[in-house]
Amino acid sequence: MPETILVIGSNGQIGTELVAELRRINGGSNVIACDIKEPDYDTLNAGPFEFSDVLKKENLKALFQKYRPTQVYLLAALLSAVGEQKPKMAWDLNMNGLFNVLDLAIEFQVKKVYWPSSIAVFGPHSPQFNTPQYCVMDPNTVYGFSKLAGERWCEYYFNKYGLDIRSIRYPGLIGWKAAPGGGTTDYAVHIFHEALQKGTYESFLSADTALPMMYMNDAIRATIQLMDAPAEQLTIRSSYNLGGISFTPDTLAAEIRKHIPDFKISYSDHDLRQAIADSWPKSIDDSQAQKDWGWEIEYDLAGMTRDMLQNLKDIKISN
Ligand SMILES: NC(=O)c1ccc[n+]([C@@H]2O[C@H](COP(=O)([O-])OP(=O)(O)OC[C@H]3O[C@@H](n4cnc5c(N)ncnc54)[C@H](O)[C@@H]3O)[C@@H](O)[C@H]2O)c1
Repeated sequence: MPETILVIGSNGQIGTELVAELRRINGGSNVIACDIKEPDYDTLNAGPFEFSDVLKKENLKALFQKYRPTQVYLLAALLSAVGEQKPKMAWDLNMNGLFNVLDLAIEFQVKKVYWPSSIAVFGPHSPQFNTPQYCVMDPNTVYGFSKLAGERWCEYYFNKYGLDIRSIRYPGLIGWKAAPGGGTTDYAVHIFHEALQKGTYESFLSADTALPMMYMNDAIRATIQLMDAPAEQLTIRSSYNLGGISFTPDTLAAEIRKHIPDFKISYSDHDLRQAIADSWPKSIDDSQAQKDWGWEIEYDLAGMTRDMLQNLKDIKISN
């Protein structure tokens, strides 16, 4: 039996790539994309698309009734930087959107649910290097504590109602197909566009701000690998740490310079995102994901940089 997959928040940085990959694997008509914003050409034309707001439970329920999804991916959220500008809205969307999906998943007997968490669940008192799965967690952004609360609810729905929900704490994600949605790690996407267009980039994070990051190809592969893993192998029902590659703006700029020798980076002072970045881990221990579902990273800094620049150059030529 083919899966019927509903992706809520399909038109953002992750959804754009995840929907394409899920459709490649499962067939276009079996993956229903859904968002409140206009989809891009591929998302609209390669399979069903529905406008729906995750906060409007009755409208969302109509989608569950219409498609009877066997799997649901919930990607709609306000991210870290935007969340600090609109804290109540971030809490409302990140929590009530999750409740609506969890409750409908139970009502409609959805087989598996995917909901992403983030390294933002860690805070200033969490260990900064090789941050373990279990440690002090004192996030100080609305985004961070909405994700931490969400993780606790996911585990609760698994234990209490038997809902098969799976989750990854993504590091900052870097991809070329869609723009990032207002997070603290967005610099690591913008830098590539501006390196190619202008040869310069002003980073809103300081030169030595190390953060865990991951190339989107790896993140999409991890997500689908976790969703395909046998349930009995999974020992974590809150959210799995995922490490990726750890680097600073300075190191990334040096890597870009290997391809664009004249590229210059400068640094702005007093950006609010610096304080958020300073409260997050610098690197992550993802040994539990390796052990439970065989996670292995493919793209290192050099491989990611090469692929990003090549793909962005190809788009420019084809435009
Ligand atoms: N991108 C990253 O680096 C990153 C890192 C860690 C975790 N995450 C998590 O992954 C998920 C997806 O992130 P993303 O980067 O694709 O975000 P994004 O902001 O790029 O995309 C989110 C999508 O949700 C849609 N949306 C917003 N409100 C909605 C609503 N009420 N109903 C339906 N759709 C709505 C938006 O229109 C947008 O298309 C989020 O939960 C985010 O917290 C992302």
